Amino acid sequence: MQASEVRPVPTADWVTIPDLYDDPYPLFQRLRAEAPVHWVPAVNRYLVVGYEACHEIELDAERFTADESGSLMKRAMGHSMLRKDDPEHAAERQSYGGVLRPRAIKDHWNAVFEKNARIYLDQFKAAGPGADVVSQFAAPYAAENLRLILGYYNATQEDLQRWSQTLIDGTGNYADDPDVWAAAERSSAEVDAATDEMLAHLRDKPDHTLLSGLSHMPMSLEALRANLKMTIGGGLNEPRDAVATTLWALLSHRDQLDQVLADSRWADAFEESIRWVAPIGMYPREATQDTVLDGMAIPKGARLGVHVGAANRDPALFTDPESYDINRPKVPHLAFGGGSHFCAGAWVARASVVGVALPKLIAELPDLRLDPANPASIQGWVFRGVTHLPVLWT
Ligand code: HEM
Repeated sequence: MQASEVRPVPTADWVTIPDLYDDPYPLFQRLRAEAPVHWVPAVNRYLVVGYEACHEIELDAERFTADESGSLMKRAMGHSMLRKDDPEHAAERQSYGGVLRPRAIKDHWNAVFEKNARIYLDQFKAAGPGADVVSQFAAPYAAENLRLILGYYNATQEDLQRWSQTLIDGTGNYADDPDVWAAAERSSAEVDAATDEMLAHLRDKPDHTLLSGLSHMPMSLEALRANLKMTIGGGLNEPRDAVATTLWALLSHRDQLDQVLADSRWADAFEESIRWVAPIGMYPREATQDTVLDGMAIPKGARLGVHVGAANRDPALFTDPESYDINRPKVPHLAFGGGSHFCAGAWVARASVVGVALPKLIAELPDLRLDPANPASIQGWVFRGVTHLPVLWT
């Protein structure tokens, strides 16, 4: 590209955090129409909203490091692989071995997902003829699955939910709220204590869990603890949100639910739902040099917010991108990230949500419907999901 074609990054001082939190999509439409990257003072970042630009960043760790300076995630959880570049990142990722991969899911975790779906569906049905899908099914189901995959036999699914939420809150504590830091620090200490206890136990009594696998790996205790906190933070809310958002989408588009049921198209329903509302909307990267990103001039040290939630609705790639449509032409979405940090838990998410939770929920409660008196609420822009999904059945 000629230097003359390089454009300066515009400033979007009209973007506010409350507007983003409430409904970021109209803002993304306006941003994308002007440029793929903007300096957004309210979030103190270069917000990347174009698909091509997000994808370019994911594939080029030389120019865009994951190890951003002043990372709140590092403060809340320690320095995990998610904030490292290769080769350090690759070594730690490799130490996860096959625990989250298809073979282990087939041999061990599918049975766990089935059992947990049974437990939490029975509780959900007993609460009826109306209940909240998020708090009364999706959250405990996702938490218990993650607890058993990781190997925290010394904790409860409620502990996992508390740890995950408070650590994530710390990661997003841009307001520097001392109470948020205190809660994150308490959870961090609890996770470390539980981790140390389980490592000692599983070293002698190995099994299929992640903690068991990691107990034999040559990784520093500091890195190991940070990686487990990152996985607790990243492996719970996303499958929870994917269950709730997919169900909400299908119950609001009954014609598409009929098509899903006719041909068992749960995978299409799930992939379209995480394209439409990406559970992890934004993650950070930092420019290591003065560079050009999709025609925009980016200075060295720029703190970028890679917004895959916005990229997933880029009209350059997706026709009628604001609609939920399981029949849209297949274009790879970016909801699981890309490049070397592509989600390590994507198989677990697909197996537990597509393979078990959604089909079971609808098979056992075929007349499930939205509660007209209690509309669903959906919030967030860094993480986005349905926070309450009140439903009824007969
Ligand atoms: C629908 C569900 C999920 C979504 C949308 C999702 C999304 C993502 C995204 C976008 C990233 C990359 C972030 C970045 O590059 O900064 C990521 C990384 C990661 N995810 Fe997921 N995730 C999901 C479920 C899970 C589950 C269930 C687990 C664990 C059981 C998990 C474990 C991880 C780990 C360990 C990484 C770090 C990978 C690395 O740095 O190499 N995720 N996920």
